[in-house]
Amino acid sequence: GGGRRACHDGVVTKVWAHRGASGSAPENTLPAFELAIEQGADGLEFDVQLTRDDFVVVIHDETLERTTNGNGWVADHSLDDLKRLDASAGHDGFAGVTIPTLEELFTLVASADVRLNVELKNSRIPYQGMEERVIALIDQFGLRERVILSSFDHNSLRGLAEAGVGMPLGVLYSEPLWRPWNYAVKLGASALHPSLAATRHKTVERSHENGLEVNVWTVNEAEDMERVAECGVDALITNHPELARSVLDAR
Ligand code: G3P
Ligand code: CA
Repeated sequence: GGGRRACHDGVVTKVWAHRGASGSAPENTLPAFELAIEQGADGLEFDVQLTRDDFVVVIHDETLERTTNGNGWVADHSLDDLKRLDASAGHDGFAGVTIPTLEELFTLVASADVRLNVELKNSRIPYQGMEERVIALIDQFGLRERVILSSFDHNSLRGLAEAGVGMPLGVLYSEPLWRPWNYAVKLGASALHPSLAATRHKTVERSHENGLEVNVWTVNEAEDMERVAECGVDALITNHPELARSVLDAR
């Protein structure tokens, strides 16, 4: 406590809500994103997939079972089919909540002051044309300055960089990489998005020297929030933005 201490490199760590305030509301739903904004999140992280009829929807899994009362692949359903499903995933008080389209989410956040981390879920299913549709929506809503695209599919990121997408790109990874800052620079990315377990102090230092951001997921415990902030990460991605806000603001 006692005032804001300068972090490593003078970085003040931001709070990004993982799938919205998913610790308190059904993940990747509009109420979860609204709550995250109310709780003081600086950014929202969310996952996108493509419907059978090529609408971009906000949902984490490629399949419906875990977070909705539907079955099977997202990619096998039309948007109309998906909109009939309940996405409250057992959370009391959220009955009738549906899978949002990316358009609905962008409408909700259009006037909110939050960064938008769009995670392209294209590493298991090579959704044809998903990147283009996401970018078209970003442009339709004028959100380029607020967006960072991320993916575990590094070839997708390389393609976007080579095509001159002109938006920040975050390299997602779960296991430690060899000199990830060099890897990201070569890929044309501007940020590393390591798991908490794969985050190294040296990675934060070298990344900053190379002009890269480091945004770490998923940081849910107060002591880990302290630790990564001390390390100078640019953003911590958490299911509990309210807790993160109180931990970071007390520094
Ligand atoms: O974007 C960070 C994190 O969300 C990546 O893992 O499985 O939660 O999408 P996952
Ligand atoms: Ca994600």
